[in-house]
This record gives sequence, C-alpha cells and structure tokens, in this order.
Amino acid sequence: MVHRVVFLGPPGAGKGTQAALIAKELGVPHLSTGDILRAAVGAKTPLGLQADGYMRAGGLVPDPLVLQILHERLDLPDARIGYLLDGFPRNLAQAEQLGTFSQVERVVSLEISPDLLVRRLSERRTCPKCQAVYNLSTKPPRVPGKCDLDGTALALRPDDQPEAISTRLKVYAEQTAPLLEYYRKRRLLRSVDASGTPSEVTAAIRKVLG
Ligand code: AP5
Ligand code: MG
Repeated sequence: MVHRVVFLGPPGAGKGTQAALIAKELGVPHLSTGDILRAAVGAKTPLGLQADGYMRAGGLVPDPLVLQILHERLDLPDARIGYLLDGFPRNLAQAEQLGTFSQVERVVSLEISPDLLVRRLSERRTCPKCQAVYNLSTKPPRVPGKCDLDGTALALRPDDQPEAISTRLKVYAEQTAPLLEYYRKRRLLRSVDASGTPSEVTAAIRKVLG
C-alpha cells in the first residue's frame, strides 16, 4: 500500500472530504495546509496574521510560510509512516521543494467541471471551531446551522464569497494545474472523476491507490 500521497484538485473538488476518509484507511495523517492555516488565522498567531489577507482574497500564501508549516508538520512523529497531503504542493516551486525532502508515491487528481465547483463551494458551510465540513444540499448538518460535532454555529468560509472563489479558480488554473503535467511526467499521476457522489469518488480513489 502507498503511504506518501498527494491529492490535487481545484477548490471544491472534494479533496478535504475524501482525504479525511482515505487517510484513515491508509493509516497516515491527513495534512491540509488550508486547515493548518485557517487554525492559525483563528488563533491569531503571527503566521495566521500574515496569512489572513492572502487567504481572504483567494490568493496563495507565500511559499516560505507554507513550507515552514509543512516542514514542522512532517517532523511530527505520526508523519514518519507517511502522509496524505491536501492542498500542498500548489505550484511548481512547492513541488520541487517537496521532492527534496520526501519521495511522493502517488498523486491523485480529482477532476470536475467548474460549474459543479462553484455550486459545491457556495453551498459549503464549515464549523469555525473544529473545521468540520457540511453542504446545504449534499451533506446538511443534523440541526440546521449547527455543527454536528460541537454545536458551534456554522459559517461560510471567507474565501467562499463569489469574488474569492473566482480568484481561487484562476490561481488553480495558472499555478496548480501545471503540476498535473509535472507528476504525469514522473508517472505518479492518477486521475479520478470527482463529479459523482462522495462514495463513488471514494471508490474511484481506492481503485487508483491499489
Ligand atoms: P484550501 O483549504 O486547500 O482550499 P482549496 O484548495 O480551495 O480547496 P477547498 O478546501 O475549498 O475544497 P476541497 O477540495 O477540500 O473540497 P471539500 O471537500 O471541502 O486552501 C485555502 C487557502 O489557503 C488557499 O486559497 C491559500 O490562500 C491557502 N493555502 C492552502 N494551502 C496552500 C499552499 N500549499 N500554498 C499557498 N497557499 C495555500 O468539498 C467542498 C464542498 O462540496 C463541501 O460542502 C462538501 O461537503 C461538498 N462535497 C464534497 N464532495 C462532494 C461530492 N462528491 N458530491 C457532492 N458534494 C460534495
Ligand atoms: Mg479543503
């Protein structure tokens, strides 16, 4: 079984939803740079204060900051066996850096049409406390507006406003999509159709992970 896996995919493709399940199955930690950054923003740490503006606008946080958090996270004991990276790398420089300290075994590309993405993102609601993810039509919370896990009022992520969504899609196309070719050339890339139901997508990912 593979233990060093990267999920690539545009905003709203379902990376976080699928990574949470698949990481458990692989027995590796699910490392989302977006989740780590949002926790830092929420806690108003120096990193969070620096990252906040970039994230709200839908742009990328500068590489040195993201590389620092990735290094720190990969140094923790649970990441010794491997990782499932969600949201990293996001440009060629990050992919090159990752390659200098860890050998990725498989890259899964979640493929989906842009109109479905916008719908998923505008219907997403997240728990500001524990970051659990819901969807008004496909995964509603048990009590409307409240997190199933801790009862906190659910919110729209600041970068799920229409303007930030369109910036994120543009940033993905310009900076992240070139990684598909980068990993295809290295024979690590496997593509899955991410437009089906969550369980259909999970099954497709299991298949390409072998
Ligand atoms: P990040 O948090 O990584 O955001 P993203 O890549 O834009 O992806 P999302 O989290 O929005 O979508 P997802 O693919 O995880 O979808 P989800 O499973 O939630 O990054 C945020 C920001 O942080 C960046 O813009 C940047 O500023 C910064 N950042 C992070 N990493 C960085 C890096 N490496 N370098 C620089 N900056 C970085 O699903 C979406 C919705 O759809 C949910 O409501 C879900 O319930 C629903 N859904 C999921 N799957 C399905 C399905 N199959 N059918 C129906 N509904 C579904
Ligand atoms: Mg996510």
